[in-house]
Amino acid sequence: MRMRAFFAVLAATSLHGAVARLFIRQDYLPGAIEAENTFALRSVLNNIGPNGSQVPGAVTGVIVASPSTEDPNYFFTWSRDAALTMKMLVDEFLHGKTELRPYIQDYLKAQAILQTVSNPSGALSSGRGLGEPKYYCNLTRYNDAWGRPQRDGPALRATALITYARWLLATGEGSDANEAKEKVWPVVQNDLNYVAQYWNSTGFDLWEEVSGSSFFTTAVQHRALVEGSALGKELDVSTAAYDSQAPNILCFLQTYWNGQYAVANINTQSGFSRTGIDANTVLTSIATFDPEASCDDALFQPCSPRALANLKVYVDSFRTIYTINRNTSSNSSAAATGRYPEDVYFNGNPWYLTTLAVAEQLYDAIQQWNTVSTLTVSPVDLAFWQSISPSTTVGTYSGSDFIALRDAALAYADSFVAVALKYTPPSGALAEQYSRENGTALSARDLTWSYASFVTMRGARLAATSDYAQVPSWGSASGNEVPAVCEASSVQGTYTPAVDAGAPPGSGGCTVLVTFNVNASTYYGENIYLGGNTIELGNWNPAEALPGSAIAYSAERPLWSFVVELPANSTVQYNYIRKEDNGEYLFETTNRTLAVPPCGGNNAPVEDAWVGPVGTPS
Ligand code: NOJ
Ligand code: NOJ
Repeated sequence: MRMRAFFAVLAATSLHGAVARLFIRQDYLPGAIEAENTFALRSVLNNIGPNGSQVPGAVTGVIVASPSTEDPNYFFTWSRDAALTMKMLVDEFLHGKTELRPYIQDYLKAQAILQTVSNPSGALSSGRGLGEPKYYCNLTRYNDAWGRPQRDGPALRATALITYARWLLATGEGSDANEAKEKVWPVVQNDLNYVAQYWNSTGFDLWEEVSGSSFFTTAVQHRALVEGSALGKELDVSTAAYDSQAPNILCFLQTYWNGQYAVANINTQSGFSRTGIDANTVLTSIATFDPEASCDDALFQPCSPRALANLKVYVDSFRTIYTINRNTSSNSSAAATGRYPEDVYFNGNPWYLTTLAVAEQLYDAIQQWNTVSTLTVSPVDLAFWQSISPSTTVGTYSGSDFIALRDAALAYADSFVAVALKYTPPSGALAEQYSRENGTALSARDLTWSYASFVTMRGARLAATSDYAQVPSWGSASGNEVPAVCEASSVQGTYTPAVDAGAPPGSGGCTVLVTFNVNASTYYGENIYLGGNTIELGNWNPAEALPGSAIAYSAERPLWSFVVELPANSTVQYNYIRKEDNGEYLFETTNRTLAVPPCGGNNAPVEDAWVGPVGTPS
């Protein structure tokens, strides 16, 4: 009810301009934030199996992205969304919400199982399978075409679980210490090994659209290795791979900066053309925030000159393109912000989690300034400061001048939360997006990540305005030195099912990577799949067969390719399948067999030519 009253007041007064807005901020915002926070936390738990009221069918520990099953169907568990949500839950747990511990333990178990589920990105034995972005909510593979792999997932999962493991070790009790060592670490170790091996390989970005290198992915990978190394040392295990690769990743991270902002995606496929201005980078600064770090540009800390300059460029890119921002033309007022200005998904709209991320970055920055009670304005972030405090000049501020600038940043941050709340329906429900035209909720309803972003924003605000310590340091001081020369190397990892954490015994067996090439002329809209008698090939169910890639298809050679990890030493029966533009299948009229070599062996690419009926467009 309090929420309802808040929105009524906001709607009634929003026309009255700055004075009214200030009044709302000061008198209503904290209460409105607390009310929505309570609702958001409950809504997150409602989306977690097995008991979440919104997600019947999701098994134990599965964090569902959204209960929405169509337009869009988000009834899956994404590694990224789940890990970011779990990090939030772990941080809340550390603040005394002891009732959250079973959710953490269930998540650990579900992730231990998922690590062993072979999927179109690969299997556990090579590590490749860990890059799979999403799974069904009963912990089985999702076989259809998707932007994969996405290499942020393992790093984010490691970060969530490392935070929990460090708490377990800090309590010092025997059973807690054992839980850290025997259950949490084996899952974390697979993920860290994955990062150390694959950080320098391209993959899809967090929006699942762009193949290349993503700023967010690189940054969270660096953080995971630095804190993973510290945890490994506490547990007395080898951390050499993490220690050797973390500096290389930090070095690479510097290459995204273009002098004005961090370019979200680099090393992209040819034909990719965007400004690179993207919430990716704002989410990076909050995902790698360390309350004990200084305003470090290399680490893109929230208060760093680069991250502040970047924030302004990002926010400004939405000022004129969204109708609902038209009355916020002044650069000192908040704006609704989305993923990136060129976005067309659902026609390209503001998202709750990206608008809230702007506020959270500034709340995080305030915590960092408060630690030293000074604030330095540099040429790099001068434009940001002048946009919220016009007379600002380059220099170091302390005392009342410091407080004035800091409070301008606080008020600016608050105004982004007010925008998100203004477009939140009276129920408090947070979907994925809100309309660029009129602010009504759009796309997936009750998005878990939207709710999690509200809770982390609220914690950051509390920490900026009181002595609440929202998140523990991740020890960035031991990983903030940028090497003079970047080295693009990699450490081959080993990957073991985390059986004590719940992975099925005997899973994660040795696999061999096999490339299948088939010449099959297709018309536009017709696709080739690979089916067969193994789970990797869908057990003869055409709907579960593997989608092929036509990336090298040409008039000279109508090539469709598949890369799949198959169990070593097995005999596999397979066939190619045509999927017509009307959804019908056409099958080959021949039987094919492949003898997969033993563990450690190599299989030369399989070269085939389609045998069977030819398709026709419908
Ligand atoms: C679904 C993805 O999750 C979303 O990020 C993307 O924009 C759309 N597919 C379109 O590619
Ligand atoms: C689409 C978003 O682009 C992606 O980041 C997210 O993981 C999925 N939706 C699920 O929420």
